Amino acid sequence: ETNALVDRFGRTVDYIRLSVTDRCDFRCVYCMGEEMTFLPHAQVLSLEEIEQVAAAFVSLGVKKIRLTGGEPLVRREVIKLIRGVGQLDAELAITTNGSQLVDMAQPLKDAGVNRLNISIDSLQEERFKEMTRIGKLPKVLAGIDAAIAAGFDRIKLNAVVMKGRNDDEVLDLVNYARDKGIDVSFIEEMPLGNINEHDRAEVYCSSDEVREMIESRYPLQPTTERTAGPSRYYRMADSESRVGFISPHSHNFCSECNRVRVTVEGRLLLCLGNEHSVDLREILRRYPNDQERLRDVIIKAMDLKPEKHEFDLDDKPQIIRFMNMTGG
Ligand code: GTP
Ligand code: 5AD
Ligand code: SF4
Repeated sequence: ETNALVDRFGRTVDYIRLSVTDRCDFRCVYCMGEEMTFLPHAQVLSLEEIEQVAAAFVSLGVKKIRLTGGEPLVRREVIKLIRGVGQLDAELAITTNGSQLVDMAQPLKDAGVNRLNISIDSLQEERFKEMTRIGKLPKVLAGIDAAIAAGFDRIKLNAVVMKGRNDDEVLDLVNYARDKGIDVSFIEEMPLGNINEHDRAEVYCSSDEVREMIESRYPLQPTTERTAGPSRYYRMADSESRVGFISPHSHNFCSECNRVRVTVEGRLLLCLGNEHSVDLREILRRYPNDQERLRDVIIKAMDLKPEKHEFDLDDKPQIIRFMNMTGG
């Protein structure tokens, strides 16, 4: 099957990230302000609209769909959407904070989800509470176990590493992933949303620093393994677990970018770190069920994809949009 989605820089888009809700049951300090107002329902795409968008992208050659949020699993009846999208000819993955997995891991697996990424920044209950403001660690740990029991193809943990906050837990997180036989990626924080909680330059912890912490205990072998995402993966000699690094600041991966996003409001965002976008909701609502037109708009949008993000840790965030609107 040919892919119709190629941008001005010759990059092929075969991965879409769909945010299914801006709501979340956590308030992670790097993602949201303490007080959040969420979108009124009329502005949010319906489950049917999201499914139409997903189908349009797959018909254009997309091979991987990731559902994100906010927290995707708090959207009412999300499992219906997942069953629908699970029928499409593409890999289906979800990024979740893990809070709902005790009940939902098995239903997700049964609905056709292939892979799960679970965010966890700390293994210490008090600190987990500080970083998520309201999250409960035991619930998430039980959710991870439920996900492992459900037998997904692959489970990856994601941790945003912040100096003075959780950088002393890097090895603990690696050990935990090794014990569970799953992967773990460490992420450099991105300056999205005006969070005012901490100074982003002050807590910045580069992936090279994180890698050194791990190598003091486990030598890491670089691999060429990729998941179509931005993670660079390493292996340890005596474990199946992979260690990944997502390094938007220190190892820019934009030249290999293969993805676009659709926000909960139906805005097709061509880059996480820029505002270039096209309003798909308007098309969906003005021309209901006109897949041909939707496909056309998506193909033309590729011309708007910028070469790279413009993240700068020292300036005020240029991108005021919060991560929960964007889906990470
Ligand atoms: P895999 O399919 O497992 O490779 O997933 P992923 O790493 O693509 O997705 P995930 O939802 O686990 O995201 C992990 C981190 O990568 C999040 O902090 C995302 O914001 C970040 N990320 C994903 N895609 C991009 C991108 O295109 N640009 C930037 N700057 N960050 C991205
Ligand atoms: N910078 C980097 N990663 C972030 N995430 C949320 N906000 C940020 C940010 N400002 C991560 C979450 C989750 C994924 C969807 O994005 O921890 O793993
Ligand atoms: Fe919620 Fe994810 Fe944002 Fe944390 S990072 S507040 S879990 S959307």
